[in-house]
Amino acid sequence: MILKVNSNSPDKTFEIGEKIGRLLRGNEVILLCGDLGAGKTIFTKGIASSLGINPDNVVSPSFVIMNKFEGDLHTLLHFDLYRLGENIENNVPEIDEYIDENIIVVEWAQYLSPSYFRLKNSIDIKFSVRDNYIRTIKIKTRVGLKFVF
Ligand SMILES: Nc1ncnc2c1ncn2[C@@H]1O[C@H](COP(=O)(O)OP(=O)(O)OP(=O)(O)O)[C@@H](O)[C@H]1O
Ligand SMILES: [Mg+2]
Repeated sequence: MILKVNSNSPDKTFEIGEKIGRLLRGNEVILLCGDLGAGKTIFTKGIASSLGINPDNVVSPSFVIMNKFEGDLHTLLHFDLYRLGENIENNVPEIDEYIDENIIVVEWAQYLSPSYFRLKNSIDIKFSVRDNYIRTIKIKTRVGLKFVF
């Protein structure tokens, strides 16, 4: 399933994240690709909010690779691979060991190997900056989500 939505503000991107978050069941790997300032963290805040996590606590983990948040029903694991960049092969994050548990969100997922995008529980989300405030968000998944936008 492929869905393309446009966002015209940070609030709208947050809201799209919330909507996706509400559809999650608890073993999804959400792969966020997009450049600096594309809206990946704001989108993650929206997901967090839908899980009962205070979005203010969700910031890009700069000194650690992953932050963990306890929601009402699910645990959210928020990875940010920016710092690993091209050296990722020498520093493969421990994402594998969390797969099939909890909800995993990965910022800068473009640094991961393509095999992650083939996981049956992956949700592949690409952010493109169109203008100062316009973002295109392209969602691709085999997870049966009932999108309502
Ligand atoms: N439609 C929009 N959706 C999301 N953010 C927007 C939008 N329009 C403008 N912005 C701005 O773009 C920035 C997005 O920041 P955010 O931290 O979410 O990006 P990011 O993709 O996580 O970047 P980084 O790669 O640095 O972690 C914010 O400053 C926000 O105000
Ligand atoms: Mg970010």
